[in-house]
Amino acid sequence: MNPTGSFKDRGAALTISWVKNIGRFKTVIEDSSGNAGIAVSAYSASAGLKARIYVPSTIPEGKYLMLRAFGAEVIKAGTRNDAHRKATSYSEGLYVGHVINPLFIEGMKDIVLEIVKDLKNVPDTILAPVASGTLILALWKGFNELRELGLIDKIPRLISVQACGYSTLKDVVKTYYVECDRPSELADALRLTIVPRINQIVNAVKGSNGFNIVVGDEALVKALKELWARGITAEPSSAATYAAYRYAVKEGIDLGSLVVAIITGSGLKYVKDIGRLIAT
Ligand SMILES: Cc1ncc(COP(=O)(O)O)c(C=O)c1O
Repeated sequence: MNPTGSFKDRGAALTISWVKNIGRFKTVIEDSSGNAGIAVSAYSASAGLKARIYVPSTIPEGKYLMLRAFGAEVIKAGTRNDAHRKATSYSEGLYVGHVINPLFIEGMKDIVLEIVKDLKNVPDTILAPVASGTLILALWKGFNELRELGLIDKIPRLISVQACGYSTLKDVVKTYYVECDRPSELADALRLTIVPRINQIVNAVKGSNGFNIVVGDEALVKALKELWARGITAEPSSAATYAAYRYAVKEGIDLGSLVVAIITGSGLKYVKDIGRLIAT
């Protein structure tokens, strides 16, 4: 269960609990395309902390309204990269941004326990969307730790999925393209090009024998339609993993027999836009 509708709740829960426990800060600062900011704002609200969230000016309305509803101070800062720069140069409070903060990865790791518990097995392949890389790094760290503990005996192949025009991995990792002819407008959560952990992400993808798939908007819309038609309320950025999965199957790329495509965010934050996209 992700209470604010995205996987960022896992990292935010641990991070904000830690800030609350040390008791030295009244304000936390985050930069986000929306979901991480929403998660930080919600957990801050319940911990009695103030949240100052820098977002791109093009943030989808549903995400913006949720931030405001949780009582965050929201600064529309230009591009996603501008939001990151401005947040990291503001000093009145504690910067907890998931783009850098190691606690986010630690919190996110519980998805590994959930996957293994639910499947009673280790998947052969996992597809994960990548912008700043928190999810793929949590998967890599979490599965390696379970293996070191002797609880599992293999690590899934990790496939990073990125948005067309925002593929920070394309020059360093084997990359496939799916209907990628112009920069994505729909995958708002994947439009980040300042990626401090890029070397760690490359290590996770290559270390697991994985590769990278870059998805364009036409493929995203098809994936969204198919997911909603199956009762899965994905948001556009998170439908990228399913689009990548469909592509790999069509191309005959061997993913093994147990494959997980992680749907990272709920489309309820965009229900009007998705209604329009799916109807066309
Ligand atoms: C729904 C969704 N999927 C994927 C991502 C990418 O996550 P990360 O930046 O941790 O790689 C985000 C980031 O905001 C997101 O909101």
